[in-house]
Amino acid sequence: MDRFIIEGPCRLKGEVRISGSKNASLPIIVATILAPGTYNLKNVPDLRDIKTILTILKGFGISFSYSKGSLTIDTHKITGYKAPYELIKTMRASIYCMGPLLARVRKAEVALPGGCAIGVRPVDLHLKGFQKLGAKISLKEGTIYASAKTLKGTEIYLEKTSVGATANILMAAVLASGTTKIYNASMDPDVIDLIHFLKKMGASIEGEGTNVITIHGRKKLNPADYTIMPDRIEAGTFLIASAITAGEVTLKNCKTEHLTNVFNVLTKTGCRIITKDSSTVTIYGPKRPSAVDITTSPWPGFPTDLQPQMTALLSIAKGVSIINETIFENRFLHIAELNRMGANIQHDDSIAIVNGVKSLKGAPVMASDLRNGASLVIAALKAKGKTIIDRIYHIDRGYERLEEKLCSLGAKIKRVKT
Ligand code: EPZ
Repeated sequence: MDRFIIEGPCRLKGEVRISGSKNASLPIIVATILAPGTYNLKNVPDLRDIKTILTILKGFGISFSYSKGSLTIDTHKITGYKAPYELIKTMRASIYCMGPLLARVRKAEVALPGGCAIGVRPVDLHLKGFQKLGAKISLKEGTIYASAKTLKGTEIYLEKTSVGATANILMAAVLASGTTKIYNASMDPDVIDLIHFLKKMGASIEGEGTNVITIHGRKKLNPADYTIMPDRIEAGTFLIASAITAGEVTLKNCKTEHLTNVFNVLTKTGCRIITKDSSTVTIYGPKRPSAVDITTSPWPGFPTDLQPQMTALLSIAKGVSIINETIFENRFLHIAELNRMGANIQHDDSIAIVNGVKSLKGAPVMASDLRNGASLVIAALKAKGKTIIDRIYHIDRGYERLEEKLCSLGAKIKRVKT
């Protein structure tokens, strides 16, 4: 397993190009199952999770080729519909294949994803949505068996706002007969990017970006080419990394309209943020950030996927910050590691009290999911001395060439094979 060795402190300076969105790429890649044909997707990030979802598609008889961000997928024939536990356990988002399989071949056998480091992560809302559309769902020895003679449009109310359930149900409903309305739908930009792709395929969908999405089922869809939107969580991660190092960094190829909630919070900590145009922004970090309180919530609120990174920044702020994590029940695993580096943070399941300290010290620490791994990298950029981060395979799941991009901005990071 690889590890990072990071020498701090450093000051980030320069320009970095943001990659395509992991969380938009995953549903869009599986949505190619919906119509037989050849698809050309651009700006697809080179990540472990992308490799995993493509391995799942290969198991369905789908062929593809990937090079430098361009992915060509051929879904003319589907010869399988089973997604095994060995793959599902490495990436829960593999459950996204259920919706398109039910729509295209009317059946799916997908291992039930287990929990992960940040929480139980149930998929009950996905399955209830498929049942409402007319699918038969059963669970045997850890595998979900789904089948549907036909899928019929209906009204679906999501008890919780769920990005994944909204995306999965959408991908089944686009080929259902009649109209489907999803209430309390996710308004997340990743869902909107998926809807833009489905519309290019000929789907009839209204209400994206609101919490009621209406889908008028079609008999068939057609293949389409598409360029994946920039990754707002990678962009936010670089903004926070620049902020903690009192840096001066320009992000290229991001989507500034997706970052307003992050800009607001970082400005409150004392950052100066200059938006040059819709895809370019420069951030100037303060000498020492000021404390701010943060509550995570579904879009357009502050993203839970940037909470660990913000916790690292606020660990050296002037004052006390209160962090309220409302989405996942166990998303504070980075706190014990930050405290090993000299941070002074107390927490229960959902609230963290961050007593800002003047400085952090390098130490051996361990990543337990991709975003908390990113938070440890951010802390290490500021900490005095050497930090060793173990289990960075978590980081490789969701960040394309992270250490290369950070080193180009002046960080001192080495990847060591162990
Ligand atoms: C997506 O996960 C993202 N993953 C997550 O990013 C992100 O943190 C999350 O949305 C929230 O924004 C991908 O897009 C691949 P949810 P998802 O369904 O869809 C509960 C990352 O770091 N829930 O919006 O799994 C759930 O437990 C990852 O890139 C149910 O109860 O999240 C959570 O409390 C981490 N039943 C809440 O809803 C369900 O059937 C929101 O989860 C589904 C979800």
